[in-house]
Amino acid sequence: MPAYAVIGGQWGDEGKGKVIDYLAGKVDSVVRYAGGNNAGHTVVNDRGKFELHLIPSGICWEGVSGIIGNGVVVDPEGLLSELDGLGSRGVDTSLLYVSERAHVIMPYHIVLDELEEKAKGVNAVGTTGRGIGPTYVDKVSRVGIRIGDLLDIKGVLVPRLEQALSFKNALFTKVYEVEPVNLDDILAKCRVWADRLAPHIQPTEQIIQDLLAGDKSILLEGAQGTLLDVDHGSYPYVTSSSPSIGGACIGLGLNPQEIAGVVAVFKAYSTRVGSGPMPSELLGDFADELREKAHEYGTTTGRARRVGWFDAVAARYSRLVNGLTGMVLTRLDILDGFSAVKICVGYEVDGQRIDRFPSNTGLLERCQPVYEEHPGWDQPTASATDVSHLPANALSYVRRIEELVGCQIQIISTGPSREETILVHEIIPG
Ligand code: IMP
Repeated sequence: MPAYAVIGGQWGDEGKGKVIDYLAGKVDSVVRYAGGNNAGHTVVNDRGKFELHLIPSGICWEGVSGIIGNGVVVDPEGLLSELDGLGSRGVDTSLLYVSERAHVIMPYHIVLDELEEKAKGVNAVGTTGRGIGPTYVDKVSRVGIRIGDLLDIKGVLVPRLEQALSFKNALFTKVYEVEPVNLDDILAKCRVWADRLAPHIQPTEQIIQDLLAGDKSILLEGAQGTLLDVDHGSYPYVTSSSPSIGGACIGLGLNPQEIAGVVAVFKAYSTRVGSGPMPSELLGDFADELREKAHEYGTTTGRARRVGWFDAVAARYSRLVNGLTGMVLTRLDILDGFSAVKICVGYEVDGQRIDRFPSNTGLLERCQPVYEEHPGWDQPTASATDVSHLPANALSYVRRIEELVGCQIQIISTGPSREETILVHEIIPG
C-alpha cells in the first residue's frame, strides 16, 4: 500500500492534528518527518482534548503505530512528558517508534536558541524557543547527538558530547559570556532518557519499508507549514526544517514513488506566529475580533497569532512546491456571521501587480494585498457534515478558493471534533 501525506499549506497551525486524527483510523501507521516539539497538534475525540507536540496524532487510535522519523529533532524531556501524559489518560504508547538517527535537542540547544534570538534584536525570528534551529545547525555541522547514541554511552555518546561541548562552551563563555555546560550533568540526563526511551528507539526506515511491503498504509504527518520551510518559506523568518513534501523523503528514508497523495491543510483564513511578512495580515479591531472568535493563540507558546484573509497567491505557491493532489479547508465555521469575506488574489508592489509569491523577503514585505470581496453568510456552517448543508455563499467561497488555487478541496472542517467534518472526496481509498 502507498503512503499519503497531510502537510501544512500555510504558516503552520492549519488544523493538521484534527485532519490526521480523522484519517488515522484508516491507516496502520502515522509518521512525523520534520520539525520537533515546536509543533502543536490538537486532537479532540471521545476521550477529550489532546495537545500533541511530537508524538504523531494517530497515536489516539488503537493499533495505529506512531513513528518519529530521522528528520525530526527530539527533545527527550518533551517526549517523555508527552508519553507520560498520554499514558495517564489510558492511551497505549507501546507502538511508538523513534528513529535511532533522529537528532537530540540537548538542554544547551534550548539555551542557545534564546541567546541567539536575543542577539538578533529587532531581527529576531520569534522562534518557539524549543532549541529547534540550534539542533538542526549541529546536525548539518556534524556535531549533533543522535537518539541512537544514547544507547552506547561509553563508546559513542561520551566522545561526541565532549566534542560538542568543547565548541558550545567556547561559545557560551567567550561570545555570550554565560556559564559553561557541565558534561556530567548532561550525561546524568542522558542515562535517564536512554533507560526510558530504549524500547522505542528503532531503525524506523526499515519499519516503514516493511509496512509498505506488507501492504500496510501509512500517513505522513507534516508539521509547521510550507511557508515556514527553510528553503521554500519566507527566509529567514522560517523554521529550520523542510515541512514541505520533499522533507518527507529525506526525513523518513522514503522513496518518493511510494507517496500516492499529497494533501495540504489550509485555514479558511490565514494565521502566522512570529516575525516575517504576511501580505494579507489584518490589523485593528476586526483582526482582534477574528482572533478572539477563533481563539488564535499558539498551542505551543500561547502567543497571540497574527490573522489575515485567505491568501490565494501563497496557497497557489504551496500547491506548486508540493505537487498537491488535494486540499483540506479548516475552520470555515469561524467565518460564519461576517457580512463579507475577502480573498487575496494578487499583490501590488510599486504600482505593479504580482501574481506569484516572491522569494525576496524584502519585496514580500512590501506586497500590498489585492482583494476580492465575497458576501458573507448568516446560516452557520459550524458542525455541518455534508456539502449540501452549507449556505450558498459559504459554498461559493469554498469553490472560489478551489478555482484560485487550482486544486480540489477534499475535506472541509467545520469544528474541532472528528464528527464536524465534510468529506467531499476520499483521500485514502478503501
Ligand atoms: P522555530 O521552529 O521554533 O525555530 O521557529 C521558527 C519560526 O517558525 C517562528 O516564526 C515560529 O513561530 C514558527 N513556528 C515553528 N513551529 C510552528 C508551528 O508549529 N506553528 C506555527 N508556527 C511555527
